[in-house]
Amino acid sequence: MAEHLDIQAGKTLQGELTVPGDKSISHRAVMLAALAEGTSMVRNLVLGEDVQRTINAFVDMGVKIQSEKKILSGNPDTIIEHKINGVGLWGLTKPPQPLDMGNSGTSMRLLAGILAGQKFDSILIGDQSLSSRPMGRIIEPLSLMGAAISTKEKMTAPLMIKGGRSLHPIRYELPVASAQVKSAVLLAGLFAPGRTEVIEKVPTRDHTERMLQGFGADLFKQGEVIGVEGRPRLRACTIEVPGDLSSAAFFLVAALIVPGSELLIRGVGVNPTRTGILEILAAMGAEIRRENEHEAAGEPVADLRVRSSALRGASVRGNLIPRAIDEFPILCVAAAYARGRTEIREARELRVKESDRIATMAQELKKMGARVEELEDGLVIEGGVPLLGAEVESHGDHRVAMALAVAGLGAQGVTRVRDVACIATSFPNFTLDLHRICK
Ligand code: S3P
Repeated sequence: MAEHLDIQAGKTLQGELTVPGDKSISHRAVMLAALAEGTSMVRNLVLGEDVQRTINAFVDMGVKIQSEKKILSGNPDTIIEHKINGVGLWGLTKPPQPLDMGNSGTSMRLLAGILAGQKFDSILIGDQSLSSRPMGRIIEPLSLMGAAISTKEKMTAPLMIKGGRSLHPIRYELPVASAQVKSAVLLAGLFAPGRTEVIEKVPTRDHTERMLQGFGADLFKQGEVIGVEGRPRLRACTIEVPGDLSSAAFFLVAALIVPGSELLIRGVGVNPTRTGILEILAAMGAEIRRENEHEAAGEPVADLRVRSSALRGASVRGNLIPRAIDEFPILCVAAAYARGRTEIREARELRVKESDRIATMAQELKKMGARVEELEDGLVIEGGVPLLGAEVESHGDHRVAMALAVAGLGAQGVTRVRDVACIATSFPNFTLDLHRICK
């Protein structure tokens, strides 16, 4: 991919598209298929760099994973199917070298849960951004389960994980609303005898829970308590990964802010723990309709039809934050094009994502003339000020890069987004798709 992306405003967005498979679900599909007995077929895995890191890690631990292009009857598109030969809960082998998770927080945190229960030692490393992100949040509960994980720096990667520890179940209340922490504990719980429980006061994405059930684990949920019975026999299955709402969100907002646009985005996951962005945009006046609602891989899926709409500012805080956690860069763009004030609060977690998304979005949108105030736990955006094309930076963060490209679609003149190679972590065809639908 080119080093920068130039966006020329003035075109409308028209037509139909699909978005890549959901990244969170793709990671979990690879992990659980690898730990299951038998061969799983996984269709529509996102082929971005993050999920490739998860695939490579399991290949390094002796799991055979092959991909094949397929045409299914009644479907004109070619799909990619991954065949994953599971090795069972106890069948992974020691990787020959440290496992490199690149930019992927989900790979590192979830895999740490799995590796904590293995008989061999392992090391998890990551790129510069991932190596600065907090890992204490998983080290603490996994240590309570009996894992031995050490770090060189204060609670950041590389993670040195000792093998041969016998884990025991815990009951753990999540101190941060984080699906990655919840998942790391539940996955480690697979290797402990008895029931491991997580107490989740604020709901976060529940893909791990749904997928564990799909693979035959004994999962229990009552109110705020989620439990998994340890040492199950996971059974291989077939999974059709829904499109990623977090990727679709860039096109939703693009169509909303560019007058005269209408898009149909097919096959998008609409799990209620992820649809915060749809609720926020609806409150801002967006016209987004769900059509063809159905289910795939135990997840709700729908086609989303979006028409350009006059947006107004909104107030976003509380339980909505984790349900829209990856959508704040693009939400800031929607807010900049909305009339009136948008206030995002209680969103401190944004500071420890692939970049500090509060700082990066405030800094970059200001370059385009937006009125943005950075708060310790969020942002205030006074929308409706016409944006001007500018040279802006992704800060190596895929979602910041895509959000700024969308901001450029409604700005006057040309917007140059620099350092866009990172887009490939979640959405390798973003630029191609954007050009195709800009008419
Ligand atoms: C993810 C959980 C979220 C999200 C990330 C993916 C997951 O992170 O931001 O992109 O797949 O579990 P946190 O658990 O840190 O909130």
